[in-house]
Amino acid sequence: MKKKILVTRQYPPAGIRLLEKENHVLTIWDKSRSMTQDELIRASLDHDAILCTLTDRIDARFLDQCRHLEMISQFAVGFDNIDVKHATQLGIPVGHTPGVLTRATADLAFGLMIAVARKMIFNHKTILRGEWGSFNPTGHLGVELKGKRLGVFGLGRIGIETALLCKKAYDMDVIYCNRTGNPDAEALLDAKPVDFDTLLAKSDIVSVHCVLSPQTEGVFDLKAFKKMKPTAIFINTARGGIHRETDLIQALEQGLIWGAGLDVTDPEPMSADNPLLDMETVCVLPHVGSATVEARSAMSVLAATNLIEFYKNGTIPHIVNPEVIKK
Ligand code: GLV
Repeated sequence: MKKKILVTRQYPPAGIRLLEKENHVLTIWDKSRSMTQDELIRASLDHDAILCTLTDRIDARFLDQCRHLEMISQFAVGFDNIDVKHATQLGIPVGHTPGVLTRATADLAFGLMIAVARKMIFNHKTILRGEWGSFNPTGHLGVELKGKRLGVFGLGRIGIETALLCKKAYDMDVIYCNRTGNPDAEALLDAKPVDFDTLLAKSDIVSVHCVLSPQTEGVFDLKAFKKMKPTAIFINTARGGIHRETDLIQALEQGLIWGAGLDVTDPEPMSADNPLLDMETVCVLPHVGSATVEARSAMSVLAATNLIEFYKNGTIPHIVNPEVIKK
């Protein structure tokens, strides 16, 4: 069944080729910036489905004007940019791309831990400034990760993969805080479930892997940072809205925690004059958790497959709101 699909960015070609092979007619937004919401609405009006991503605002305003859409296929595992409840009420199914970016994102969380612990970005910047003096026996000192305790906030696919890396590389003890228990993961990681306050108080590294939701928005605020160890490292590769940035800055300035590694900020992009960027024990990356050739290509295939299967046989392999299809 030939359909008109709006493709909101230039996604990796593997998935695009699959859609073309099925003879779908694609309109690809080829600018380097995302569409404004008005551009997105105008363009969607003339299409049957959209292939979109986390920078596209698919809220009630969008959905009310684009209620004709037959499907929304999200190129990302997270979907907090989409008002899924509203899409469900309108009967629009939403697909996403879980699993294929797990390893890439866990690698980045793990990398951020080392980068922060050894002040890698800060030390690199000293060279750029021409400040590489002679070997300094007491300078540039970081901390070691071996045998430390990892606290995972949100023990889903990416949290588990990150914890596995930490266990294998550094024999870390793992505790976690999750909405529900995860006995399989507990067995795999020898991990213990704890409440939020215990996670904060007992972890040497807290790594955030939950979804952004009304329950998790801003949970890492000054009150939470005050409960962490002054030697702790805070890592967030999930969504910037889960921590309060001004509180994090204050916590680092006051020495309430030792360091932070962020792949996500709020807002994104982070402004170039953000004080976090000048801190010795902070490493900030521009939301690149899934940015490997392998993961992005697989995400493109999955997002396309969700559309193809939907139009071929009415099923979506990775659906966010399955109740719509069952109706
Ligand atoms: C990236 O942040 C994603 O949700 O896939």
